Amino acid sequence: MKSLIIISLVLFVLILFNITNGKGNEFQVPPPPFSEGIFPCSDCHSAMEPNAKHRILEEHTDIILHHDEGNRWCLDCHNKDNRDYLKLADGRLVDFSESYKLCGQCHGDKYRDWKLGIHGKRTGFWNGQKEYRLCAHCHNPHSPRFKELKPEPAPLKPQKDMRVKKHE
Ligand code: HEC
Ligand code: HEC
Ligand code: HEC
Ligand code: HEC
Repeated sequence: MKSLIIISLVLFVLILFNITNGKGNEFQVPPPPFSEGIFPCSDCHSAMEPNAKHRILEEHTDIILHHDEGNRWCLDCHNKDNRDYLKLADGRLVDFSESYKLCGQCHGDKYRDWKLGIHGKRTGFWNGQKEYRLCAHCHNPHSPRFKELKPEPAPLKPQKDMRVKKHE
C-alpha cells in the first residue's frame, strides 16, 4: 500500500512537470542572430527621440530594405518607444526570441508549416523537447529573398568519338 502511494506521488509529480514544462516561451529557440554589440538597442535608443520619418539613415547603413518593396518601413516591425521589442500589427510587443510571430502575421502558411517542423528546421526529440530555428536564422528580415543560384553549365552532349572504340 505504501509503495502504491509513493508510485502515484511520483507519477503525479512527473505529470505536473510535463504540464508546466515548455510553458513560457511557446517554442524553444537559440538566441536571435544579432550582430555583435547591437543588442540591447536601448543602449543608444533610450536616449534618442524616435523618428518615424521614411528617410536615408545615417546609422544602420548596412540595412537595405528589400521586403514587400516600397510598402514597409522600420517602425512597422520595430517598436517605436522601446526599441528592444518588435511590434505586431495589433500593437502587442514581441521579444526578438519570438520574431516568428511577426513573420507569421503575413506568411501564415509558412508559419503553420514551421510550427509542424515542415518548413525551416527543428531538432530534438520526436516525443519531447524540440528546438526551432527562428525565421531570422535563415532569412534576413530586411531582405528575406534568397539569391538565385547560378545554374551549372549543361552537361556535354555525348559524342561518338567519346566512346572507347573496341571493334573497328
Ligand atoms: C519586416 C519587419 C522588419 C522591418 C520592416 C525592419 N526590420 Fe529590422 N529587424 C527585424 C527583425 C525580425 C530583426 C531581428 C533579427 C534577428 O533576430 O537577429 C531585425 C533586426 C534589426 C537590427 C539588428 C541588426 C543586426 O545586425 O543584428 C537593426 C539595427 C534593425 N533591425 C533596424 C531596422 C531599420 C533601421 C529598419 C528600417 C530601415 C528595419 N530594421 C526594418 C524586422 C524588421
Ligand atoms: C550604436 C547606437 C545604436 C544602436 C546600438 C542601435 N541603434 Fe538604431 N539608430 C541609431 C541612430 C543614431 C539612429 C538615427 C539615424 C538617423 O536618424 O539617421 C537610429 C535609427 C534607428 C531606426 C529608425 C527609426 C528612428 O527612430 O530613428 C530604427 C528602426 C532603429 N534604429 C532600430 C534599431 C534596433 C532594432 C536596434 C537593436 C537591434 C538598434 N537600432 C540599435 C543608433 C543605434
Ligand atoms: C506586413 C507583412 C509582412 C511581414 C510582417 C513579413 N513579411 Fe515577408 N513578405 C511580405 C510580402 C508582401 C512579400 C512579397 C511577396 C512576394 O514577393 O511574393 C514578402 C516576401 C518575403 C519573402 C520572399 C518570398 C519569395 O517569394 O521569395 C520571404 C522569405 C519573407 N518575406 C520572409 C519573412 C520573414 C522571415 C519575416 C519576419 C521577420 C517576414 N517575412 C515578415 C510581407 C510581410
Ligand atoms: C532552416 C532555415 C529556414 C527557416 C528556419 C525558415 N525558412 Fe523560410 N525558407 C527557407 C528556404 C531554404 C527557402 C527556399 C526553399 C523553399 O521554398 O522551401 C525558404 C522559403 C521561404 C519563403 C518563400 C517561399 C515561396 O513559396 O516562395 C517564405 C515566405 C519563407 N521561407 C518564410 C519563412 C518564415 C515566415 C519562417 C519562420 C516561421 C521561415 N521561413 C523559416 C529556409 C528557412
